[in-house]
Amino acid sequence: MTENVATVFVAEDDAGVFGFIAGGSIMHPVEGYEGELGAIYLLASHHRRGAGAALVLRLAADLRAQGFRNMVVWVLRANPACGFYRRMGGVQVAEQGIEIGGVTLPELAFGWADLAVLCQDGK
Ligand SMILES: CC(C)(COP(=O)(O)OP(=O)(O)OC[C@H]1O[C@@H](n2cnc3c(N)ncnc32)[C@H](O)[C@@H]1OP(=O)(O)O)[C@@H](O)C(=O)NCCC(=O)NCCS
Repeated sequence: MTENVATVFVAEDDAGVFGFIAGGSIMHPVEGYEGELGAIYLLASHHRRGAGAALVLRLAADLRAQGFRNMVVWVLRANPACGFYRRMGGVQVAEQGIEIGGVTLPELAFGWADLAVLCQDGK
């Protein structure tokens, strides 16, 4: 397993890069988990075309190849991306408050307990 090294993949078409995903060793601990999807972002013009799912599966395969067995992602509870992670098979495994601009907001961790299952099933 590689420690503290982030892996980044980009999504691109003929017009150039329109999104990315980054992940690696867990940065925000959740008991029993080793890997973390740290960030994923696509331009709004490219949502709902399958690129987000493709990036998650690409990162999952890479983390798995590095020896990670599982992965989490932290996301604000109000972020519509929670629906995306659920659709990708993520299960809520933790919750915490995160202070942003003096306000404490709820943040959820979605986990994939077995990256082999995610890589096989897709979503
Ligand atoms: C979250 C994000 C990466 C999803 O990428 P995407 O390319 O739009 O997602 P996909 O098209 O691959 O969708 C995969 C599945 O998830 C579903 N899905 C996508 N976004 C969803 C949402 N907001 N709510 C519920 N389901 C969603 C899709 O319908 C699809 O399911 P289907 O196969 O049954 O149709 C994208 O919306 C994004 O970049 N958002 C802004 C940045 C952000 O919030 N990042 C997360 C920060 S933690």
